[in-house]
Amino acid sequence: MNKESLQTKKDLEKSQQSEIDRLNEEIDHLKIELNAYKQMTKTINDSEKEFERLFHNISDAVYYTKVYRDGMPGNFIKVNNIAYSRLGYTHEEMLKMSPLDIDFHEKEELLQIIQNIYLNETLTFETVHVCKNGQHIPVEIKTHTLDVEGEKYVLSVCRDISVRKKAEQMLVQAEKMNVVGQLAAGIAHEIRNPLTSLKGFVQLFRSGTIPNETFLHVMEDELERIDLISSEFLSLAKPANSDFCDVNLNDILKDVVALLDTEAFKQSITIITKMGNEVTIVPGVNNQLKQVFINLIKNAIEVMPNGGTITLKLETKNDTVFVSIQDEGCGMTVEQLNRLGEPFFTTKETGTGIGLMVTYTIIENHNGKVDVKSILHEGTTFTVQLPKTVAIPKD
Ligand SMILES: Nc1ncnc2c1ncn2[C@@H]1O[C@H](COP(=O)(O)OP(=O)(O)O)[C@@H](O)[C@H]1O
Ligand SMILES: [Mg+2]
Repeated sequence: MNKESLQTKKDLEKSQQSEIDRLNEEIDHLKIELNAYKQMTKTINDSEKEFERLFHNISDAVYYTKVYRDGMPGNFIKVNNIAYSRLGYTHEEMLKMSPLDIDFHEKEELLQIIQNIYLNETLTFETVHVCKNGQHIPVEIKTHTLDVEGEKYVLSVCRDISVRKKAEQMLVQAEKMNVVGQLAAGIAHEIRNPLTSLKGFVQLFRSGTIPNETFLHVMEDELERIDLISSEFLSLAKPANSDFCDVNLNDILKDVVALLDTEAFKQSITIITKMGNEVTIVPGVNNQLKQVFINLIKNAIEVMPNGGTITLKLETKNDTVFVSIQDEGCGMTVEQLNRLGEPFFTTKETGTGIGLMVTYTIIENHNGKVDVKSILHEGTTFTVQLPKTVAIPKD
């Protein structure tokens, strides 16, 4: 081998060695990358497992669905354990279903709701879900609409509110019983007076006194009074008739005052009524409007433990009727005023906080509104506005 070719061989060996070194280096590098990748996969797997664990163990049902451009929901893509077990389905069965199969609403109504969900990033609403065995579950749903590569998906978190609904119903019932119970004492007292006077007349007749016209008139009046009071009591217990008709507001207010006067009197409260001679007719449901004024006057009585005056005023301006109930009670702070009408808001030890909620709902259904003005330690005025029945002119 000549000197030149020896040199070439050495060069070749050198370049081969450097190539080997480079490859070794690359292998080391790949090993590090592979380890990092393994670590990352493990982290992803771990967090996926963690996610699955959380997803299936939260107490709310979670549904993930696609919503197509035509507004139709697809089958569920992912649901958690509670979502299918609560409704009595298996996981496989659930994935073959869509929101249309579990909601109580008619298809058209539900598509309307889904359209609304589609247009909003998040939405909270109440509905009823139907189980496999036909049982109904009232639920509150919060939806999140997600945009994934131009397609819309909806994640719904769905809470079972059966217990809350039942509690609400029980409280409404309790409020009714409470009002009825408290009134019962007053009513019994009220009925006793005319009864005592009737008994007196019966004794007179027995002792041989011949009844004359005046006696009979007084007796008739007393019987009418008993009739009025007992029919008031009955109308409270009757379910509200939701048919609107023209009702005489003067009569309603007179009846309510007659009903609550004894209660007020026991607390040294005088109810002053200012309503003029004009008869005021409004479209409404008699019993419901009575309930409104009973609630408001009862509240006024309850804030005046040391007696005073409640002023009940009926006025008409243009086509609107205003009924105001002014008390001399404790008044309210701004915070309390802001919370009025909120279900279950009460500052009373044995209160339920349903009276005003019912009142506001009824007045809203009558296309009216309720205004409140209150000064702390001085008193409160509730004013109910109602549209007046427009008299049709006779031709
Ligand atoms: N005339 C009033 N004066 C002062 N506070 C009132 C009056 N009416 C209502 N409130 C306040 O509103 C709350 C809610 O009233 P309501 O819904 O009738 O429930 P409840 O009478 O059972 O407390 C009361 O607890 C009280 O704090
Ligand atoms: Mg009340």
